[in-house]
Amino acid sequence: MRQIVNTANGSYDVLKVQEVPDLVPKKDELVINVKAAGLNFADILARKGQYPDGPSKPCVMGYEVSGIVDSVGDKIDKSWVGKEVIAMCRFRGQAEQVCIKERQAYEKPQNLSFEEAAAIPVNYLTAWVLLVVMGSLQKNESVLIHNVGGGVGIAALDIVKHIGAEAYGTASHRKHRFLNERGLEFAIDYRSKDWLDEIMKLTDGRGVDLITDPLGGKEWKRSYKALRATGRLGMFGISTASGGPESGLKSYWNMLKTVVQMPFYHPLSLINKNRGVFGVNLGHIWHEPEKAALWTKEILNGVEEGWINPHVDTTFTFEEAGEAHRYIEERKNIGKVILVP
Ligand SMILES: NC(=O)c1ccc[n+]([C@@H]2O[C@H](COP(=O)([O-])OP(=O)(O)OC[C@H]3O[C@@H](n4cnc5c(N)ncnc54)[C@H](OP(=O)(O)O)[C@@H]3O)[C@@H](O)[C@H]2O)c1
Repeated sequence: MRQIVNTANGSYDVLKVQEVPDLVPKKDELVINVKAAGLNFADILARKGQYPDGPSKPCVMGYEVSGIVDSVGDKIDKSWVGKEVIAMCRFRGQAEQVCIKERQAYEKPQNLSFEEAAAIPVNYLTAWVLLVVMGSLQKNESVLIHNVGGGVGIAALDIVKHIGAEAYGTASHRKHRFLNERGLEFAIDYRSKDWLDEIMKLTDGRGVDLITDPLGGKEWKRSYKALRATGRLGMFGISTASGGPESGLKSYWNMLKTVVQMPFYHPLSLINKNRGVFGVNLGHIWHEPEKAALWTKEILNGVEEGWINPHVDTTFTFEEAGEAHRYIEERKNIGKVILVP
């Protein structure tokens, strides 16, 4: 089988497609023949050596797949074989085959293509935890979704619309029309305007009830300022640390600058302003499979009921993995980028 190997820290040329022997499941595993694999921002940070949770190189990245179960171990029900599934995996998903435990697999919704189905796990689980589980978003509240044009952003928009809250979002200007058509009430071009000024103007100086913020660094301080009373800030990424495609000194410098600019929140400020702050890292929740199963079921219900609609922007072949990384780094994607064997 073929897999995308991240051979070293660096630019797009460090990604190579390599052939390895087919996988054989252990007693408690399933082997999936992968039809589509999600590409995430974390894969890009990992390529550049900016992702502390990434495996050591050479490695195969990939947190999520859709495909067909090829074979199962002795302890697994044989009825899985031949089923169309989606799965989260701890790396190694960007390959023609991946090995997973049974609890990581869910039947693929029939009305979704393999590409659409592979866009569900990371984006929708992250958005669900941010908005529903920890953000406790209520009908008629307001939410600011930073990077609303990316995979997590569009997933968040689906959930916000279902809850019935008012959605503001930051994105590059060319994505605004698409986002408005998808239900975003107010799009802010944060690359040409100061988004904090804009959100305060749009809300008559009040701010919003919830902010989902993957920007990081000093932006977390500014997001905190944009919360109204009982407002919550969910922090979950540091996309401002990602500069150009290269690794090396410049990328370490960007990372350092982002970390140094991160705020500290004083308990007295939280109490007196009636505000909450929290963090989300999906990669650190593997020890809570029951919770993840519950959230996934609610998301798959949303697919069945029609209020969850994963949007795939573009599909690249494994050989085009470098182009896929470039596409995201040049901020071209609206929604999900998918890799297919
Ligand atoms: N903690 C977690 O569990 C978790 C899980 C998933 C994702 N995340 C984080 O959430 C963020 C978004 O992820 P995603 O999967 O939605 O992203 P994505 O689909 O890959 O899209 C990223 C979007 O972010 C915007 N962006 C902001 N800064 C950027 C930069 N320096 N380079 C390139 N694009 C940049 C771009 O759109 P605009 O220019 O239009 O804004 C781009 O379209 C990332 O920081 C990621 O690491 C965290």
